[in-house]
Amino acid sequence: QPARAVDLVEEESGAPGEEQRRWEEARLGAASLKFGARDAASQEPKYQLVLEEEETIEFVRATQLQGDEEPSAPAAPTQAKQKESIQVVRRSLPVFPFREELLAAIANHQVLIIEGETGSGKTTQIPQYLFEEGYTKKGVKIACTQPRRVAAMSVAARVAREMGVKLGNEVGYSIRFEDCTSERTVLRYMTDGMLLREFLSEPDLASYSVVMVDEAHERTLHTDILFGLIKDVARFRPELKVLVASATLDTARFSTFFDDAPVFRIPGRRFPVDIFYTKAPEADYLEACVVSVLQIHVTQPPGDILVFLTGQDEIEAACEMLQDRCRRLGSKIRELLVLPIYANLPSDMQARIFQPTPPGARKVVVATNIAETSLTIEGIIYVLDPGFCKQKSYNPRTGMESLTVTPCSKVGLGLSRVSMGRGGEQASSEAASASQRAGRAGRVAAGKCFRLYTAWAYQHELEETTVPEIQRTSLGNVVLLLKSLGDWGIHDLMHFDFLDPPPYETLLLALEQLYALGALNHLGELTTSGRKMAELPVDPMLSKMILASEKYSCSEEILTVAAMLSVNNSIFYRPKDKVVHADNARVNFFLPGGDHLVLLNVYTQWAESGYSSQWCYENFVQFRSMRRARDVREQLEGLLERVEVSLSSCQGDYIRVRKAITAGYFYHTARLTRSGYRTVKQQQTVFIHPNSSLFEEQPRWLLYHELVLTTKEFMRQVLEIESSWLLEVAPHYYKAKELEDPHAKKMPKKVGKTREELG
Ligand code: CDP
Ligand code: MG
Repeated sequence: QPARAVDLVEEESGAPGEEQRRWEEARLGAASLKFGARDAASQEPKYQLVLEEEETIEFVRATQLQGDEEPSAPAAPTQAKQKESIQVVRRSLPVFPFREELLAAIANHQVLIIEGETGSGKTTQIPQYLFEEGYTKKGVKIACTQPRRVAAMSVAARVAREMGVKLGNEVGYSIRFEDCTSERTVLRYMTDGMLLREFLSEPDLASYSVVMVDEAHERTLHTDILFGLIKDVARFRPELKVLVASATLDTARFSTFFDDAPVFRIPGRRFPVDIFYTKAPEADYLEACVVSVLQIHVTQPPGDILVFLTGQDEIEAACEMLQDRCRRLGSKIRELLVLPIYANLPSDMQARIFQPTPPGARKVVVATNIAETSLTIEGIIYVLDPGFCKQKSYNPRTGMESLTVTPCSKVGLGLSRVSMGRGGEQASSEAASASQRAGRAGRVAAGKCFRLYTAWAYQHELEETTVPEIQRTSLGNVVLLLKSLGDWGIHDLMHFDFLDPPPYETLLLALEQLYALGALNHLGELTTSGRKMAELPVDPMLSKMILASEKYSCSEEILTVAAMLSVNNSIFYRPKDKVVHADNARVNFFLPGGDHLVLLNVYTQWAESGYSSQWCYENFVQFRSMRRARDVREQLEGLLERVEVSLSSCQGDYIRVRKAITAGYFYHTARLTRSGYRTVKQQQTVFIHPNSSLFEEQPRWLLYHELVLTTKEFMRQVLEIESSWLLEVAPHYYKAKELEDPHAKKMPKKVGKTREELG
């Protein structure tokens, strides 16, 4: 089949151009040269790449996406007065020529859908225009939501700089566990989840004059729920302006949803983008990425590179590999700055990707899909795309949520991965609507996109669009929130105004879980405990655990566990050259009982060290994760009073801590059977993650924090429990009978039965 890809290539692009020739050269040149000492023969020809032959990736140029502008060299940044140059840049953005027209449209319509490609200035400029126009005069604010924390922070910082104010004053951001706003803040960038929580304290959003739901095309769960709520508020607050900003062609859907609201199109500047596919499929895309980056670096004219990977682990691994190879190549290649970006990266590190590349060097940004549309990085000419992303999926029948690496959809690719402010696939598909042309000043230039899969795979194996998150996630959180907003008639969730409704079973299961957790009564009404759970900005199970710590007098410890669980599996680090030391250090923290107690132990020891960074360094613990855990812990502690939990410590009686955790997570339990672990209720086969402190112990009963599907269904963060505790904390959910231990008395009778009977 791949032969067709080649046909396609030849049909569309004709004779191989200059680029193809360079690739060929690079490949041929590489054949005779090797890494390391043996390549002394190198005579330094320009395109001779020092790679082993089998490591070279062959690309074929498939299509050129037409732009409506001629390629031009990127303009040199004005080094004059920074303030002046920032204003020059502002005026050069595609949205600028439409400022007046846009403001007029906003004045004339309550709801406006705004469409414009990445980098056109939607996020940074439109809120400023509204500010300049006086929309914040009467002590009201403008909210602009972002699906991602990183985007909210970086965009707020950028806008603060453009306005010449200190971040947190007039311009601020608000993300979970971090509020960088003040009384003075009028432009508030926030995650969509944070705006959703605002409804709890202010159901009519009275303190906002404008709400801009940005990156609407991402269709995150929170954004989708916001649509329904905001549509409702807009009906009884005619003076509220609602802007829905999106990068895609999906805008017609948004328009229909908001009673045919007009769509305002910001024509983008489109520069041609050459798309390359690999000739043959790549087995190891990580390795292929690293090799391709080096190929681009060695063979291609100046311009930075953006690589898309699926998550932190992969990104760190790729960065390490790249740095390692660059070190080995030494002065044979020009300097290559390797910069990672992912959500958990501390903001000072994140900021580095926006810094201009020093002359003579090249920058490679290795990113998650965070950089697809929410971030625009100047100077990117080359995009390298393996075509995978991490996607959450949810099985309402089993209640299992899993995060898996899956091929991206074409929409994700077309739109953003190619574009990055350089034109993109929508350029061709949308060319008809691009009658108005705006951009002039050539800040951007033509780009190249290298896809690490074949053209055939693109055409035949990728889905057209991504399923909205609301249809592939658990809804416990959101249902609890909606229930707390119940006074204005959305009690009946089935009739909530969804852009795309979630599966019926998912809603039902969410209600069932909330009932099991005691958040809802048998009539489906919010209980006192449910109201408290909604107050805490964490998952219902985690909320429940915190509430239960009152009963077991161990809120100090539980707060720590909750905070540590919130920082996302990034507590320990494991440098490649010190794997043994790192693993020993980790094992030293093990406590009988399981991973939650290990987390508690790490935090407690760190606190005893005076929150020392040196201590972290010595123990192979990530200081920044710990610092974040400390922040989260402080914030949660501040909320305890509101949910009527008093501070108390278990004084070393960890059974109490484990019971409190069980009170929240009794839904996530597994027992050891003859054929390994099975979840208690659904009888799913699951495995203890090899990193767990209980990996070798294999206790009979355990509870897990989450299930992650990689090669198997792994339970991450597991805790040993006793089955009797389940009856103690959730008598309404478990029957004594189903908790009888098969190994104790029943099991022997079963011996000798067929495998089918054993299940
Ligand atoms: O939202 P949209 O993708 O339409 O564009 P934007 O995020 O407002 O970005 C407009 C321009 O601002 C980009 O092309 C970047 O030059 C600049 N920008 C930046 O330098 N740093 C950021 N954190 C965000 C934007
Ligand atoms: Mg944007």
